[in-house]
Amino acid sequence: MVTDFIRISRSPALKGACEISGAKNAVLVIMASTILAAGKSILRNVPVSSDVLTMIELLEYFGAEIYFDQVDNRIEIDSSTIVQSEVCPNIMSRMRASFLVMGPLLARFGRASMALPGGCSIGQRPIDYHLINFKKMGVIIEEDAYYLKATCQQLQARRLVLEYPSVGATENILMAATLTSGITEIVNAALEPEVQDLINILKKMGANISVQAPATIVIQGVEQLQPVEYAVMPDRLEAGSLLLAAAITGGEISIPNAQPHVMDVFLLKLEQMGHTIITGDDGRGIFLQATSKPQAVSFKTGPYPGFPTDLQAPMMVAQTLADGVSIIEETVFENRLLHIKELQKMGAKIEQHGTKAIVTGVNQLVGASVVASDIRASCALVLAGLVAHGPTHMTGLVHFDRGYDRLREKLTQLGGRVERFSSEILGIEDKLDQQAL
Ligand code: EPZ
Repeated sequence: MVTDFIRISRSPALKGACEISGAKNAVLVIMASTILAAGKSILRNVPVSSDVLTMIELLEYFGAEIYFDQVDNRIEIDSSTIVQSEVCPNIMSRMRASFLVMGPLLARFGRASMALPGGCSIGQRPIDYHLINFKKMGVIIEEDAYYLKATCQQLQARRLVLEYPSVGATENILMAATLTSGITEIVNAALEPEVQDLINILKKMGANISVQAPATIVIQGVEQLQPVEYAVMPDRLEAGSLLLAAAITGGEISIPNAQPHVMDVFLLKLEQMGHTIITGDDGRGIFLQATSKPQAVSFKTGPYPGFPTDLQAPMMVAQTLADGVSIIEETVFENRLLHIKELQKMGAKIEQHGTKAIVTGVNQLVGASVVASDIRASCALVLAGLVAHGPTHMTGLVHFDRGYDRLREKLTQLGGRVERFSSEILGIEDKLDQQAL
């Protein structure tokens, strides 16, 4: 069995400038939204990651015609040829975000059937908020332990209240409501930047959407949506990861296309550690100069604009070498601390109490063989390897490939020593051509 692994070696302070790619958690739902507008949509700034390739496979399985220019990060999706609305189990099992096609399929075709997305390492990941509210919109759902079939004669506009601001539930309901006659309200909606990016493209397609304080999305249904050309927002999570890579190695980095206004709490925490953050006058661009004496900070993850759960693991790495004690609480997912035991292998001093971690700064980390448990843990372990004494070998690269577009190359360009190998049965090590994901 071929097992790819990444070897991270202690690296000099990362320095330089780097552009970030389009946001994974925006592009996947935006690709799903093209189902709503029969015709050829063009998406730009699309990251080259395995999740994007899986979403392409799913839309092609439905009958869409797609061309992905991986050099120009541009996708053409012609959804006018979509003829079926069943999500095959193999694709759903590889990518939970496949579930985001349910709203568009119900709105355009009045039916959707799919395998239920399982849980994953970070939690059970239920979909009850999606299903409860689709039923309130008049959808008939037949489900067993593994599969569901949804049908509706006519979606009905309702005032829908989410008990928790779920990103996926907000997005699924929002997309269904765009073609539902009448006024739909989503109360206690998620308003992550990626949700706002979806709202932007839907409005460009002709949807009638407004956001009202404190967190209500109001949708006036329209007859039809038009295909459009749209540039996906830059990935704030990749930006955060690269800023942390420079911070942890004591370097400096400029990210000219980063959007500081969608990262306020995270940037505040970096400044509290003592790092210098400068943002562009036009609201674009972030520059970080690391402090040589980082102070530990505590934080709690939460819905936007709180500290993003997707930066919890990489930020924890920065606390392992900071001066003092950091208390980190993960409130979004019930099991998103699996990277603790891997960091402990590297010499980090961390105590876990339920969904809380108490991190006491140490003088150094040491290289170890570690396993990535999820997308963001894979990034965290690479960052830890950049400063550890001795090499770190990381497996579980399926997660790393899912979440980032050439992050290894970007870190290498900044001075990071990050190499990728595949170890064949014969033990022959050879470098993979990283171009082919
Ligand atoms: C999206 O997941 C992101 N994924 C996640 O990024 C991100 O961590 C998460 O939002 C929170 O910001 C994509 O956009 C593809 P939720 P999603 O519904 O929509 C519970 C990454 O690493 N819940 O906001 O699945 C759920 O179990 C990934 O890029 C229910 O109980 O997140 C969780 O505890 C990981 N019932 C909480 O709500 C439901 O019906 C937040 O989930 C739905 C969710």
